[in-house]
Amino acid sequence: MTAQLIDGNALSQQVRAEVAKRAAALTARGLKPGLAVVLVGDNPASQVYVRNKVKACQDAGLHSVLEKYEASMSEAELLARIEALNTDPAIHGILVQLPLPKHIDDHKVIEAIAPEKDVDGFHVASAGALMVGEQGFKACTPYGCMKMLESIGMKNLRGKHAVVIGRSNIVGKPMAMMLLQADATVTVCHSGTADLGAITRQADIVVAAVGKRNVLTADMVKPGAVVIDVGMNRNEEGKLCGDVDFDGVKEVAGWITPVPGGVGPMTITMLLVNTMESAERQLG
Ligand code: GUN
Repeated sequence: MTAQLIDGNALSQQVRAEVAKRAAALTARGLKPGLAVVLVGDNPASQVYVRNKVKACQDAGLHSVLEKYEASMSEAELLARIEALNTDPAIHGILVQLPLPKHIDDHKVIEAIAPEKDVDGFHVASAGALMVGEQGFKACTPYGCMKMLESIGMKNLRGKHAVVIGRSNIVGKPMAMMLLQADATVTVCHSGTADLGAITRQADIVVAAVGKRNVLTADMVKPGAVVIDVGMNRNEEGKLCGDVDFDGVKEVAGWITPVPGGVGPMTITMLLVNTMESAERQLG
């Protein structure tokens, strides 16, 4: 293996320790940062995610509330709960776990969250703030990827070519905007891209966020490039793997994130950072 690992668990621990310090300082000033996590229905993966989010809050000394509702909850009832959380002074961040049951309109629910409490960064106002470089909340997964780049000394990306594979609203698009904000030259590739490898081979940084195994193989990577793998898939044996052919790419890349233990833990960490920031903004 020639690539160095970017260890998401270690970096998470470090960032969470900083959050815990800031949370303690804020609590001492009479404001304990609080996150509300709303789960509707019994999707097994969502149950694990929300449990991890609530536990991470508790470990960092943040206040957290888990609101669990039956899958039969109406859209109007959910909107009413969000309205109540919007005006609850103990809550600085609101996260509605996705996916929601089919009879509820995700978009309507996300737009009902007050932008100043949108710690997931999914609200149109948050996406717009990122686009024009104004204060808002950054989507947690791409924000975590930026932290990982920063941790290996890649904060200012002037002169670097970053290629993002994937154009989702929650990862690909905000990732491209954050890289652009850091002065990178950014190319966004997707399922309609012809000759993906010809583009990724030019990249100093590749972020793979497609949700499909082996999207990026060794022959598609420039020697020494930084490879960030956002994917969470399972192989034939049921083992967790990313979008990147890790075993092949690690022989060519300069830096690579593993799956698991890479971007995954950073997502929750940045949720804590956003919740912390939300509370701090309230205090001014
Ligand atoms: N479902 C899967 N990932 C996420 C996430 O980051 N936030 C929310 N709200 N739902 C999700």
